[in-house]
Amino acid sequence: MILGLDFKREFHWRGTDLRVGFLLPEARVKISAGIAHMSRETIRHRFFGIKNGFTERELKHLTEIDGYHHFALGVEEVHNPERGIAVMRMVRDDLTPKEAEVALLLIDDYQRVGLGTLLMHFCLIAAAERGIETLRFTYLPDNTGIVKLIKRFGNPKAEILASDYVQMKITIEKTQIDESLKALKEFFAPASIDSRGP
Ligand SMILES: CC(C)(COP(=O)(O)OP(=O)(O)OC[C@H]1O[C@@H](n2cnc3c(N)ncnc32)[C@H](O)[C@@H]1OP(=O)(O)O)[C@@H](O)C(=O)NCCC(=O)NCCS
Repeated sequence: MILGLDFKREFHWRGTDLRVGFLLPEARVKISAGIAHMSRETIRHRFFGIKNGFTERELKHLTEIDGYHHFALGVEEVHNPERGIAVMRMVRDDLTPKEAEVALLLIDDYQRVGLGTLLMHFCLIAAAERGIETLRFTYLPDNTGIVKLIKRFGNPKAEILASDYVQMKITIEKTQIDESLKALKEFFAPASIDSRGP
């Protein structure tokens, strides 16, 4: 397995050294710190409303995860690891376990520079490794960024839910898994990705 519980990798991104890894319970402090670096729009797009911080219960849910039913990767700056800069989260459906809800969140400084695309490649691989075949995204109708991103990874079907949320699903194709694997291997070259971690 590439994206196991011990996955952690450093990489250079547009002049900054970043680290991506499986989200551990200690990330709760970074998650709390990250919210101060998000615009109201970013917070609204991810949480569908106003949010100034997280409760203990929310932090527990967001960080105490098993990697199978609930998988998440966090990204931080190597030289400023106090704040989190991005999270990709995938939560498996209890009733339909081959389907999972995906949520992405990047602080504003790191949006629109390709990091969301990178995290989606990770998401595809993590899903494939866990037997997840369908990814579901729930978002607000004005969130053009996430729609553009999802459409890169599959042929989505969208449905409008109550309260005007939109839900979009993509079925993971074998060709897309191969493409994501190739993208990650190239991205982390020359060191190849393997199950032994960094
Ligand atoms: C939505 C989000 C995950 C996209 O990640 P990202 O790193 O900004 O996306 P990328 O840089 O990989 O860009 C992917 C494509 O989407 C486009 N895009 C990203 N944000 C956009 C925006 N706000 N408006 C229009 N297009 C946008 C990019 O331009 C790019 O297309 P291009 O290559 O043709 O220019 C990120 O902006 C984010 O965290 N937003 C706030 C939280 C949120 O909306 N989460 C989604 C709820 S599940």
